[in-house]
Amino acid sequence: MTAEQTVQYPLPQELHRDRLPRHVAVIMDGNGRWAKRRGLPRIMGHRRGVDTLKKLLRCSRDWGIGALTAYAFSTENWGRPLEEVEFLMTLFERVLRQELKEMMAENVCINFVGNLKALPQSLQAEIYRAVQLTRSNAGIRFTIATNYGGRQEIVQAAQNLAVQVQKGLLQPDEIDEALFSRHLYTAGAPDPDLLIRTSGEMRISNFLLWQLAYAEFYVTDTLWPDFDVTEFHQAIAAYQQRERRFGKV
Ligand code: FPP
Repeated sequence: MTAEQTVQYPLPQELHRDRLPRHVAVIMDGNGRWAKRRGLPRIMGHRRGVDTLKKLLRCSRDWGIGALTAYAFSTENWGRPLEEVEFLMTLFERVLRQELKEMMAENVCINFVGNLKALPQSLQAEIYRAVQLTRSNAGIRFTIATNYGGRQEIVQAAQNLAVQVQKGLLQPDEIDEALFSRHLYTAGAPDPDLLIRTSGEMRISNFLLWQLAYAEFYVTDTLWPDFDVTEFHQAIAAYQQRERRFGKV
């Protein structure tokens, strides 16, 4: 067991247990810049980014946050240099394989959202294995968005519903928000309460367009590999100070 595996994160006194976000989503941005600033290849930033994610998952679990969703690869990321794309695919596969045993031990329920069919076969197999093995785990729900695009997800849901209407199984006026939600990749999961984006970019980047409708945003200039538990604490504290009105007064 490594030193990191033995770390436990008690909930900081300043944070209110009864007002924790149920679901935190993260846009893990700035890996490339982190590496460049150190004169390293971009892939080193992604490698360090995995360590940040692992820490955050453990911390979320220890604090009692029910779900964590991380944006690992967007539908637009295929446009990156082939070498980087291939590195990321191999990284996802290796990390999944290496961490599965520990995630089982920690009762993590692993879930993926995105168009998984376009991923390399060996990665798809690893994803399938991880999802099947952990599906009954009642601990934190850890969702990895891979080859994910919010618009694509919405279009796909609309297509599914259109087919049902065409077959006469559904009337157009029966389509409401609840039904539409059930046709998204995230069906059945609560929407994120808090979105964290690192590296100072003020964009949503096609991430969970539907699900983030009422999420609180926390943007920090810190690059993802440098984001740590102290700053996660700050993000949750900021969230707890927000007044969530959901469009009401
Ligand atoms: C964005 O930073 C980061 C990514 C596109 C990849 C994120 C992936 C990980 C941290 C690995 C996660 C691993 C698993 C198993 C889920 P960027 O490359 O856009 O950084 P830049 O804006 O500085 O160039």
